[in-house]
Amino acid sequence: MQIFIDTADLGEIRQLYDTGLIDGVTTNPSLAASQGVQFVDLIQQICNIVDGPVSAEVTALEAAEMIAQGQKLAALHENVVVKVPLTVEGLKACHALAEEDIAVNVTLCFSAPQALLAAKAGARYISPFVGRLDDQGWDGMQLIRDIRHIYSNYLFDTEILAASIRHPQHVLDAAKAGADVCTIPPKVFRQLYHHSLTDIGLKSFMDDWQKSGLTI
Ligand code: E4P
Repeated sequence: MQIFIDTADLGEIRQLYDTGLIDGVTTNPSLAASQGVQFVDLIQQICNIVDGPVSAEVTALEAAEMIAQGQKLAALHENVVVKVPLTVEGLKACHALAEEDIAVNVTLCFSAPQALLAAKAGARYISPFVGRLDDQGWDGMQLIRDIRHIYSNYLFDTEILAASIRHPQHVLDAAKAGADVCTIPPKVFRQLYHHSLTDIGLKSFMDDWQKSGLTI
């Protein structure tokens, strides 16, 4: 499973990309708005750090303007993936942009029929929001399983990008459900590798090593 980092924070992106474990980045208008940098400059800077797909979301609500914004964003860098919302206007824009070979991430997906339409519109990625469904008392992970089932039935090559990830269990379940990508907030990414038993075990190894006087 590919791992994307779900943030627009350049410091975090630099630090986490340095692990060699990050395949791409997703941003959204809320994340970008928190950075106090012009959006186009922000996306350009992320692309300069990360060698992989970088999702940049349009903010227009009508297809024609979404397409124009998408073309502008796609022209910034070959790794830009244009993000459009899962509305009928977004699907129209997705179809038009895909026809121009521009990669599109259809976001704000909350149902399997929506995901089916995004695949038919030629989306490179579909972003089901697992955590926001859970927040409402639904089973967000079931949506990933349903989409996997539908896409496999028809051999759609749209990649399932599990989004709105809240904790490491979501990442594990998304991998088990066959998501192609999981986009993870920095805090949850760090929780993936941190384990208190690792810290305790390492401390006792180092203590014993120190006492022994051995060297490498
Ligand atoms: C996806 O691309 C979105 O940026 C993101 O996952 C939204 O997650 P949230 O529900 O934590 O805002």
